[in-house]
Amino acid sequence: MVTRYYTASSIDGFIADPDNSLSWLLTRDVDPAGPMSVDALLAETGALAMGRTTYEWILDNPQDDGAAWLYQQPAWVFTHHDLPRVDGDVRFTQEPVEVVHAQMIAAAGGRDLWVVGGGDLAGQFADAGLLDEVWVQYAPVALGGGAPLLPRRLELELLDVARNRDFVCSRHRVVRAQR
Ligand SMILES: NC(=O)c1ccc[n+]([C@@H]2O[C@H](COP(=O)([O-])OP(=O)(O)OC[C@H]3O[C@@H](n4cnc5c(N)ncnc54)[C@H](OP(=O)(O)O)[C@@H]3O)[C@@H](O)[C@H]2O)c1
Repeated sequence: MVTRYYTASSIDGFIADPDNSLSWLLTRDVDPAGPMSVDALLAETGALAMGRTTYEWILDNPQDDGAAWLYQQPAWVFTHHDLPRVDGDVRFTQEPVEVVHAQMIAAAGGRDLWVVGGGDLAGQFADAGLLDEVWVQYAPVALGGGAPLLPRRLELELLDVARNRDFVCSRHRVVRAQR
């Protein structure tokens, strides 16, 4: 079981532009059957975690078929707000990441955990020593500002790189400090 932060990013390290838009991302070409695709990720994923802004973005951007929620897996949404509910297994939380991580493992049936974003939430999992891998799909654009990819000092080991059409895909292991 691996806890993984998997996200797309601009080449200058932003996962959303200053207006919280992903238009720079959704217009790109990607092979859903290609390397490090989100479809392959989801097949390995048993539980998800995300912050309020990411959840609100999903609700504001329904699927082509009108579906408001994307995921079959249980999802924990970190927030201090009372947010709209969706037709899916969504659990709002203010618990520490250590507590939520244990809940996610219990629900995931041995499959991997996906920290969807944002970057600071992934950083909170890393701070707690609970983040194992960082996978980034770089789109060919610089945004100049926006939501940061991972606002932490964090040592990583490069495990693999691949190209998926418009994207440079990288897979890293988090190097944990020796205690
Ligand atoms: N490029 C991609 O593939 C990708 C992937 C994921 C997300 N995104 C986008 O990137 C942006 C990320 O936004 P963001 O940086 O604001 O991050 P976010 O993690 O989505 O949202 C931040 C909010 O999460 C809540 N939160 C975080 N940690 C918490 C904790 N420990 N306890 C309780 N609540 C906590 C807080 O909400 P409260 O104010 O309610 O306390 C905080 O304001 C969004 O626009 C999203 O759509 C892009």
